[in-house]
Amino acid sequence: SYVVTENCIKCKYMDCVEVCPVDCFYEGENMLVINPDECIDCGVCEPECPAEAIKPDTEPDLDGWLALNAQYAKEWPNVTMKREPPADAKDWDGIAGKKAQFSS
Ligand code: SF4
Ligand code: F3S
Repeated sequence: SYVVTENCIKCKYMDCVEVCPVDCFYEGENMLVINPDECIDCGVCEPECPAEAIKPDTEPDLDGWLALNAQYAKEWPNVTMKREPPADAKDWDGIAGKKAQFSS
């Protein structure tokens, strides 16, 4: 499946949800995740993310993020409509160590 990774945190642009044909994004306070059981690997979300936070799970070192996506997809509500990103989204884009900002 595809995986939402660290750079989504506090950027949360939400362009991804509009293009997913199976509506498999789930929304936390400051990032989204993909349900790996529902994702059909179509890949259309990957180029839509302005933060380049979405990756295929075939890329190396994504096991931790895949596990986080799977866990929170079970706990967070489904999201299918884009809303305004946070006002300071651009300030956080590309900042290292954003995992510390993760909020469930
Ligand atoms: Fe949805 Fe396709 Fe992205 Fe999977 S790869 S989350 S099915 S848009
Ligand atoms: Fe996050 Fe990118 Fe979607 S920043 S909310 S994965 S468009």
